[in-house]
Amino acid sequence: MSRADRFLRACRGEPVDAIPVWLMRQAGRYMKEYRDLRARYSFLTLCKTPSLATEVMLQPVETLAVDAAILFSDILVLVEAMGLDLVFEDKAGPILTNPARTPQAISSLKTPDPEDDLGYVMEAIRVSRKALGGKVPLIGFSGAPFTLATYIIEGRSSREFVYAKGLMYQDPATFHRLMDTLAHATSLYLKAQVAAGAQALQVFDTWAMALAPGDYREYVLPHMKRLMEELGSTGVPVIHFSLGASTLLEHIKESGAKVISLDWKIDIGEARRRLGPEIPVQGNLDPAALFQPPDRLKDTILTLIGQAAQWPGYIFNLGHGIHPSTSVERVHQLIETVHSFPTDRTQDLT
Ligand code: CP3
Repeated sequence: MSRADRFLRACRGEPVDAIPVWLMRQAGRYMKEYRDLRARYSFLTLCKTPSLATEVMLQPVETLAVDAAILFSDILVLVEAMGLDLVFEDKAGPILTNPARTPQAISSLKTPDPEDDLGYVMEAIRVSRKALGGKVPLIGFSGAPFTLATYIIEGRSSREFVYAKGLMYQDPATFHRLMDTLAHATSLYLKAQVAAGAQALQVFDTWAMALAPGDYREYVLPHMKRLMEELGSTGVPVIHFSLGASTLLEHIKESGAKVISLDWKIDIGEARRRLGPEIPVQGNLDPAALFQPPDRLKDTILTLIGQAAQWPGYIFNLGHGIHPSTSVERVHQLIETVHSFPTDRTQDLT
């Protein structure tokens, strides 16, 4: 057993030789190699040029001992392919200049054909797999229907989701129609990613915690169940990530997600007890914990693993994307500390 398979084994709840670790946004601005490329190309050019997307995807695999690679792309390229105009502005983040807020605008969203309309993503996966040469598995990803719906309706990241929730409450039929379109589009997109070579999938429902649990059940869960059921046929592990998953943990489990990725607002031991031993979990270090001095960071990591690794099926990750001002030195230390944790202690407890 080695770096090549410990991530997939942990996703399936099998014993591992060392705890696998990868980091959300592991390819990104905290790395000099990424900033150097970004000085020459826009973010979307990196996403849309398979050779460049592959180069960025590889940066953390080559310089850090991570146990999985993730496709270099963005959740919003799917929305662009549905017919909305996407721009990334340095301070404001992503902006859709023509958000869809009316029944007519929502009806005219198209369901992309992954190979025809997002061929550069499929090609990036094929080129990435080749470049990885089996060193570590490649994770494909998509936004989840609700999180994509918030961008489609708001046009940008939001705190209060006035337009998205406004539509949800005022015109539930149109909102469900949008969620239905998105569940279908993400299912086609993710299945095509697996066909192109993705060995696991992560579905990002970053903003799901904005909903009351009852509203999640009514407006989101049926669509997530359908999505997870359709992805079941791919045979690859599907990881569900959302911020604030602790408020929705049992609902997320009910969706059929195979692995649940947690943010830092819940003790991971408590999350495992609530989910039960059959659900592998991923997480959940606060990305800001990497700003601690080395000895404090080590203690934080070991305490977290002590709670998380009570059963097999554990993948170390951050609770959200790594912050651009993080020191690469601390990231090296994090990975070393995770890998040094004796896994016989996990197996003893099974
Ligand atoms: O994790 C990885 O290394 C893979 C690549 C990846 C990116 N975005 C690259 C990216 C993934 C998996 C995403 C997912 C994504 N994108 C999400 C869900 C996860 C999350 O972070 O909550 C969301 C909501 C988006 C939309 C998005 N893209 C936002 C809000 C931003 C701006 C914030 C920021 O960090 O700048 C982006 C930009 C983005 N996506 C960058 C990267 C590397 C930074 C682009 C740059 O170089 O300027």
